[in-house]
Amino acid sequence: MTASTTAVQLKNVCKEFGETIAVDGIDIDLRHGEFFSLLGPSGCGKTTTLRMISGFETPTDGSIRIEGEDVVHRPPNKRNTNLVFQGLSLFPHMTVAENVGYGLEKEGVTADERERLIEKYLDIVDLSGYDERKPQDLSGGQQQRVAIARALVNEPDILLLDEPLSSLDRKLRQQMQVELQEIHDRVESTFFYVTHDQDVAMSMSDRLAVMNDGQIEQIGSPKQIYREPATAFVANFIGDTNLLNGTVENTTHPPRLELDAETNVTIDLGESPVKGDVIASIRPEEVDIAEPGAGVIDGTIVNRFFHGERTNLVVEPHDDSLPEFDIAVQGRTNLPDSEDVSVELNPDAMSVYGQ
Ligand SMILES: Nc1ncnc2c1ncn2[C@@H]1O[C@H](COP(=O)(O)OP(=O)(O)O)[C@@H](O)[C@H]1O
Ligand SMILES: [Mg+2]
Repeated sequence: MTASTTAVQLKNVCKEFGETIAVDGIDIDLRHGEFFSLLGPSGCGKTTTLRMISGFETPTDGSIRIEGEDVVHRPPNKRNTNLVFQGLSLFPHMTVAENVGYGLEKEGVTADERERLIEKYLDIVDLSGYDERKPQDLSGGQQQRVAIARALVNEPDILLLDEPLSSLDRKLRQQMQVELQEIHDRVESTFFYVTHDQDVAMSMSDRLAVMNDGQIEQIGSPKQIYREPATAFVANFIGDTNLLNGTVENTTHPPRLELDAETNVTIDLGESPVKGDVIASIRPEEVDIAEPGAGVIDGTIVNRFFHGERTNLVVEPHDDSLPEFDIAVQGRTNLPDSEDVSVELNPDAMSVYGQ
C-alpha cells in the first residue's frame, strides 16, 4: 500500500442519535504530523467526531479513512489511534512506570522493550526519574503528562485529545499548552485536539476547524481564521469583533453598505461582496478613531480599559440605533484626549456576510 498523503480523512461524516443530528456531514483531512484542533461551542459535535475516529461510535453516514484505509467497521483496538480525555483515569495503586506500560504489557511487549519505551516517553513528557512515584504524589500537570505518555507509548499514528486541559486552572493550562506543543514536536504522531477554548486552539494548532451545530464552518491556519473568518459565526466566535447589520445595494459602483441605523451611514466597499441583508464584521484593532466629524460615525468614549501596550475603548454612537464599538488602540500616544470622537471603518478590514 502506498503512503497516504492524509493521516485521517473524514468525508461527509454524519452521526444521528435518534432525533438529534450530532454531526451533520463533515469533511476533514488531517495531514501527517500536524497539530489540528476542532474548535466549537459545547454540544456542537466535537466529542462525537472524535469518538467516531477512535472507533467508539459508528457514523450514520460517510467514510473515515486512516492512512488511506476505510476504518468504519474496525474496532478501536485495531485502529492506530489513542484517546486522552479530561478524566485521566490513572490507576492510583500503580506507579507512574506501571501506568505508562500498562497497555504494552497487555499487548505482550517484552519487559526489556517495555522498559525502553516507558523511559523514552517519560523523557518526552519531561518526567524522567518519576518512574516509581504514585499518581497521588504528582501535581495535576504531572498527572496529565503521565496520561499523555501512556497514550503515546505504543506510538499511535493519531493522538486524539478531548479537552484534556479543561479541568486545570488557567496558569497550569497555559503551561501545559506549551508543554503539549513541545511533546508534539518530539514525536511523529498527528495530534487531533478537541476544545471549546479558542485561546487553546489558536495558540497551539497548525490548523483548526471551527464547528457549529454539527457542521464545519471553516478550516484554516489560526491566522487565516482570525483575519479572514468565512462566516459571521466564526468572526464572532474567534476573538473579539464588532458586528453590524446592514444592506448592500446592487445598484452602485463600488457597492455600498448601508448600516441599519436611524441616521444615514454608508460605507463604500472595495470588492463586490454579497448583496441584500448582510452582517459586517470588523476587529477592534481595525477600527480607527478620528476627530469628531471626520469618520463615519460620531460618538462618545464611555469606557477605557487599559491593558498595558493596548487600550480598549468603548464608543457609544450618538445614533443609539447603532451598537457600541469596541476599539483597540496600540500604544499610549495614539489615544484621543477628548471623549468626543468619530469612528472610522476601513472597508478593507471589514468582512461582509450574507444573512
Ligand atoms: N450517546 C448519545 N446519545 C444521544 N445524544 C448524544 C449522545 N452523544 C452526544 N449526543 C448529543 O449530540 C450532540 C453533540 O454532542 P457532543 O459531540 O458531545 O458535543 P461536544 O463534544 O461538542 O460538546 C449534543 O446535542 C449531545 O447531546
Ligand atoms: Mg465534548
